[in-house]
Amino acid sequence: MNISNRYPQFARLSALCHKNVSRFSTEKTDSPPIPVNPLKDVYSANNQTGTGVIYDKKPFRILLKAGKNYSWCLCGQSKNQPFCDGTHKDIFLKIKLRPIRFTVTETKNYWLCNCKQTTNRPFCDGTHKRQDIQDKKI
Ligand code: FES
Repeated sequence: MNISNRYPQFARLSALCHKNVSRFSTEKTDSPPIPVNPLKDVYSANNQTGTGVIYDKKPFRILLKAGKNYSWCLCGQSKNQPFCDGTHKDIFLKIKLRPIRFTVTETKNYWLCNCKQTTNRPFCDGTHKRQDIQDKKI
């Protein structure tokens, strides 16, 4: 017997709890294609070869507006993740990485990389699933 049938008072609560649940998946089956930054070839910061420190071992889902420009934190030290807050400019931290300017062509929810190791900046490409990243202490 379904718990909602047995305890109707929990049916609404259960529905509310599951309403906004989204799961990240890089499975090839029915996942949407991973977006590409339209500004990738515009800003030289996109050509940086280094990667920042791991901020989190999973991506961040956020609603982004089409045509708006964003700055994604690459150094991993921003206090406003996943966006840049200017921490990389602190001369005492000696951070050489610059943020990635990006935009999107469609207003919707996107998965932004939080491990800072993605090869498709700033979007998560599943790199965070690598064992060495998952084993890293943060
Ligand atoms: S969080 Fe998924 S690749 Fe970085």
